[in-house]
Amino acid sequence: MGKKTILVTGGAGYIGSHTIIELLANDNYNVISADCFYNSSPKAYAQINEITGKQIKTYTIDLCDEKEFDKIFTENKIDGVIHFAAFKAVGESVELPLKYYHNNIASLVNLLALCEKHKVTNVIFSSSCSVYGNVQTLPVNENTPILKTESSYAYTKQIGEQMLQDVCRQHATFNAISLRYFNPVGAHVSAKIGEWPLNKPNNLVPLITGTAAGKYPQLTVLGGDYPTRDGTCIRDYIHVSDIASAHVLALDYLLQHKNKNNFEVFNLGSGTGVSVLEAITAFEKVSGKKLNYKMGERRAGDVVAVYSDSTKAYNALGWKCIHDIDSMMKTAWEWELYRTKNNF
Ligand code: UD1
Repeated sequence: MGKKTILVTGGAGYIGSHTIIELLANDNYNVISADCFYNSSPKAYAQINEITGKQIKTYTIDLCDEKEFDKIFTENKIDGVIHFAAFKAVGESVELPLKYYHNNIASLVNLLALCEKHKVTNVIFSSSCSVYGNVQTLPVNENTPILKTESSYAYTKQIGEQMLQDVCRQHATFNAISLRYFNPVGAHVSAKIGEWPLNKPNNLVPLITGTAAGKYPQLTVLGGDYPTRDGTCIRDYIHVSDIASAHVLALDYLLQHKNKNNFEVFNLGSGTGVSVLEAITAFEKVSGKKLNYKMGERRAGDVVAVYSDSTKAYNALGWKCIHDIDSMMKTAWEWELYRTKNNF
């Protein structure tokens, strides 16, 4: 396989930036990133360069602007796309559904239309375990029925998968993989890049590390009355670099024509359910810091418990997780300290 050029949308974002690092470690791939820095910083590119020693070509564009987006395909010969760019705050999507429908759907419509126009036939889509809704049976595998979602964010991921499936049905030569992430957390082992939200984050782990670093006064545990072992929600936390490596494997799989169907779905989770209180305990253990937190009300849009059976990704892609919850918390904390020290 000659060197392939991969367009990464949302490449300055959390999972996008870690995936670019993994792609650049593989000599088969050139990377182009498109990002509008809605919730990310161009500094991510400098950090990628510092970690890998490589420069990538970048575009600053909003993918909802089809004309601008078209330039990337006109100016470059793209072999595959990894599509991360999207809004992702579950709670906000319940408050502002149209913001989510507009951005997450319009950008994907544009991407698929441009792939069709420029004959790009390999796409990897960032999906989410939230597509499963409030599941009754755990762990969740790819055959678990898709229920009504708890949030508009999750529904945009269901619709996105349906769109890909429809395009795959229409074009036998078009190939797509949807990767359903559970809860990506942690940071690159170098501690030089990690989750980098511009405003106060919504996700648990950056809120834990930010509270411990003194950026936020106190963490609120959102609901202590769920029907779980300690009353708090259960999630399958998975290290971002493990998620990133799955993208490279999925891309290899597509480009080497190993896929059995032209639309395939894989769960990416560690397989372990961890409650919010257990996550806090893991953080306190690895950081040696006591976290200031209080119990609070439930958050709209949250499911009670979800964790993955990722056997399919293991069997088809040869993917497995390297990091456990302690490593996730340790790398997240080291990144928080690096960020604070460098004024990021
Ligand atoms: C959801 C998706 C995940 C997606 C992510 C994008 C599910 C099951 N997972 O994650 O696939 O990648 O959105 O944002 O839908 N919490 C607190 N206090 C806080 C913040 C969060 O207790 O201040 C709790 C939440 O109630 C939840 C857990 O921490 O139980 C994780 O929340 P969060 O990090 O926001 O991720 P999800 O919403 O679970």
